[in-house]
Amino acid sequence: MVIAIDGPAGAGKSTVARAVAAALGFTYLDSGAMYRSVALAAREVGVDADDGVALGPLAAGLEIDFDGRRVLLGGRDVTDAIRRPEVSADASRVSVHPVVREAMVARQRALIEAADYVAEGRDIGTVVSPDAPLKVFLTASDEERARRRAAETGEDIAAVLAAQLQRDARDSEREHGALRPADDAVELDTTGLSLEEVVARVVGLAHERRLAPRSKGDSGDPERTSPQFVSEGSPEPSPSQRPPSEHQ
Ligand code: DC
Repeated sequence: MVIAIDGPAGAGKSTVARAVAAALGFTYLDSGAMYRSVALAAREVGVDADDGVALGPLAAGLEIDFDGRRVLLGGRDVTDAIRRPEVSADASRVSVHPVVREAMVARQRALIEAADYVAEGRDIGTVVSPDAPLKVFLTASDEERARRRAAETGEDIAAVLAAQLQRDARDSEREHGALRPADDAVELDTTGLSLEEVVARVVGLAHERRLAPRSKGDSGDPERTSPQFVSEGSPEPSPSQRPPSEHQ
């Protein structure tokens, strides 16, 4: 079973999904990390991010695993490498290709069938799991999202905003698995809301719908530390717990 949390980059999906998973005793799934892993692997073997023909077999043959917060590609820890800006840009490009999407969606479905997940991405509620019992579409204003990311990374806000708009456009306009809310998704604008408010809202929806792990103790996020809004680019949460207006 899956709770789907979709939305554009910088809306707070990762932090919210992780915190909701911890609160409910579900496992967290970062589907973006899979597309990022494809992008990294393509770079390493010299396959162009626009070469859909070569990317198909490459994506299908990759071994992508999660170990807590770590992402493993063929057993190698790539958690930090997949967050590099050039890999972020390539991830958005490789994820356009239907062959890549088919390979990743199949893996995501296999995971979701086997346990209870809070999965974040762009197409979890529309493609990966259209029957998900709870779908949340998280948004925040463009400026807010760029501001959170820039505060995290120290980058210039205007540069972040420009890159973000480009990624958003590519993610929304592609033919397959485009970024859009499912018809039955609950849309939640996190602009000006604290992390606690957003998490409480989503957990409240899950409780209303009586969503609970199938059997306690076998699928919970092992990390139940107090959550903070952090950017997808930050491997570890920052020590202070600030509202989303200050973080991603
Ligand atoms: O969530 P993220 O920023 O880590 O995702 C990286 C890229 O992967 C993003 O530009 C779009 C793509 N992606 C996707 O196409 N479908 C998903 N379910 C998740 C991510």
